[in-house]
Amino acid sequence: MKYRIAPSLLSADFARLGDETRNVIAAGADFVHFDVMDNHYVPNLTVGPLVCQAIKPYATVPIDVHLMVQPVDALVGEFAKAGATYISFHPEASRHIDRTVALIRDCGCKPGLALNPATPLDCLDWVLDQVDLVLLMSVNPGFGGQAFIPHTLDKLRQARARIDAAQQRTGREILLEIDGGVKADNIAAIAQAGADTFVAGSAVFSGGDYMKTIGALRTALRSVSSH
Ligand code: DX5
Ligand code: ZN
Repeated sequence: MKYRIAPSLLSADFARLGDETRNVIAAGADFVHFDVMDNHYVPNLTVGPLVCQAIKPYATVPIDVHLMVQPVDALVGEFAKAGATYISFHPEASRHIDRTVALIRDCGCKPGLALNPATPLDCLDWVLDQVDLVLLMSVNPGFGGQAFIPHTLDKLRQARARIDAAQQRTGREILLEIDGGVKADNIAAIAQAGADTFVAGSAVFSGGDYMKTIGALRTALRSVSSH
């Protein structure tokens, strides 16, 4: 199992985002997670495509854009132009989920579906073969620094089973990303439940020494027996 660590810039120093991006990648980040909030779909306001474009020259790893916006479609092309690799959105925020997934693909990016803690996995039924990533929220979206919701572990196990079945059927890789409250002391249990990609915002950026924190996350992951 290849594990990926995706530090969320939401907890970075916004006055120095270029340096933060470069430093967190130098410290071992596999992806840069870019949280977009619109004060409509979620009660917070962050950054848009201009800022994504500004960090792009520093991002030598994929930019993993997490759209917490409604509506979705108008921003897809903007983020594609701004250098996004993955673009994930919340199904509740799009009137036509299949169309939005196709739009992301047509723009040259990899589509992802982001599911809130109470959003059922059933909404993957007719779209899983079209996406490259499933993002399970383990906190309610809108803020960094919240506590991991424990029953997300059960949901992860069920999502893992669906993804494994789809991968066996099609041979296509689909990442299973967890977002919210990931720390060195719970990442092993989260991986054991089936996640392969880990967003970590406050854990990485409030620690100061990014290499040390990402190292601690990887050390914890080494204790996981592959399923
Ligand atoms: C929350 C965001 C997360 C957040 C994670 O709505 O989607 O990516 O930044 O932050 P931590 O790791 O602090 O929970
Ligand atoms: Zn996120």
